[in-house]
Amino acid sequence: MEKASVDELRALQLKRLQATLQHAYANSPAYRRKFDAAGVHPADCRSLADLRKFPFTSKADLRDAYPFGMLAVPRERCVRIHASSGTTGKPTVVGYTKNDIETWSHVMARSIRASGARPGDMVHVSYGYGLFTGGLGAHYGAERLGLTVVPFGGGQTERQVQLLHDFRPDLIMVTPSYMLAIADEFERQGLDPRECSLRIGIFGAEPWTNDMRAKIEQRLGLEAVDIYGLSEVMGPGVANECIETKDGPTIWEDHFYPEIVDPETGEPVPEGEFGELVFTSLSKEALPIVRYRTRDLTRLLPGTARTMRRMQKITGRSDDMMIVRGVNVFPTQIEELILKQPGLAPHYQCILTREGPLDTLTVAVEVAAGVAPEGSEAQSAADTLAHHIKSFIGTSARIELRPAGGIERSLGKAKRVVDQRQL
Ligand code: DLL
Repeated sequence: MEKASVDELRALQLKRLQATLQHAYANSPAYRRKFDAAGVHPADCRSLADLRKFPFTSKADLRDAYPFGMLAVPRERCVRIHASSGTTGKPTVVGYTKNDIETWSHVMARSIRASGARPGDMVHVSYGYGLFTGGLGAHYGAERLGLTVVPFGGGQTERQVQLLHDFRPDLIMVTPSYMLAIADEFERQGLDPRECSLRIGIFGAEPWTNDMRAKIEQRLGLEAVDIYGLSEVMGPGVANECIETKDGPTIWEDHFYPEIVDPETGEPVPEGEFGELVFTSLSKEALPIVRYRTRDLTRLLPGTARTMRRMQKITGRSDDMMIVRGVNVFPTQIEELILKQPGLAPHYQCILTREGPLDTLTVAVEVAAGVAPEGSEAQSAADTLAHHIKSFIGTSARIELRPAGGIERSLGKAKRVVDQRQL
């Protein structure tokens, strides 16, 4: 299917979409209620364009059905459960049949291969194992492709480095922010990260910029590719960059049908325009997902290395968007500007506070190794950063310089926004 013509692909998508809508309606009371309330029936879907008649699914739908109310198969047929913690309230629970695990392993194997790996390579997996989909998703896909898997998981950074050094894996799968923490630990142990054996890094689970890509590639001497996914739709491997182009993740459209909608109105945007990414699963059994609102902001691009469409590297989640005195700001915009300052390190947090009626943005950022936070080099980097934020993003920000290690390291997804306005 990776090489199928667009016509073949669209035909397969329509067939699978119709089957998914039928399955959801017939076997999931939650979907039946939603479709009935919207006055639509699976038989109304005669073309891919008809999908827009169907109601959206949101995280709230999954939470309301907690824990297993959205399943379209008896719970007994699920061989695996995953859950995402979320910051508030109940976790979002997802389930997989044996066939779903097959499909997921297949798209993950495809993703890892598109990243440049080949059977016989060794991969070090630092995505967390457990309820998070990162570790086990990567693991099953890598085994399926015929790789030697080192199932490390997150944390114990010192030991991660020891094994990376001793086992000499070809690949690593980890969040980009934790990759940087691992690189720091290499240096702390007196090892040059550029000398490590890693050829390829498959990074995702959080937004990261192309400047961050360049930084990681240069620091570790590897090729960095972007992997995208979310537990509600499957887990990692919904889309993955192809190493020959590195121009945004290719969406594995034979299993996941993408749409872009206006986040305010929910209306589909004209082709190629920015908006919120929405996914419909095309082959899932346990938890078919119809028009899931990801809250991720991007746009669809034509295929390059494959016929399937790409998504532009995610600029941010609508949840992470900060509104500072009326200006919309994403952490990735700040990240790009930090990476342009050699005196600063790409470890940062955006802290929001309220002074009287006004919101204030403070960017806490570490100085680069060997740079003194009080010294003139750091101060001038901070001044330039504040100036760039003002002129490129349009808002004022206070810069708080921290010494190396002064920003808490995450072992998985980095927390970029700290909102202290409610306190
Ligand atoms: O983060 C699945 C995953 C694991 C993807 C490992 C890639 C690698 P969730 O915990 O459900 O699942 O979080 C999904 O993470 O909606 C995005 O906001 C964000 N995200 C995931 N991949 C990327 C990426 C996993 N490559 C949420 N770029 C998604 C930007 C990403 N954001």
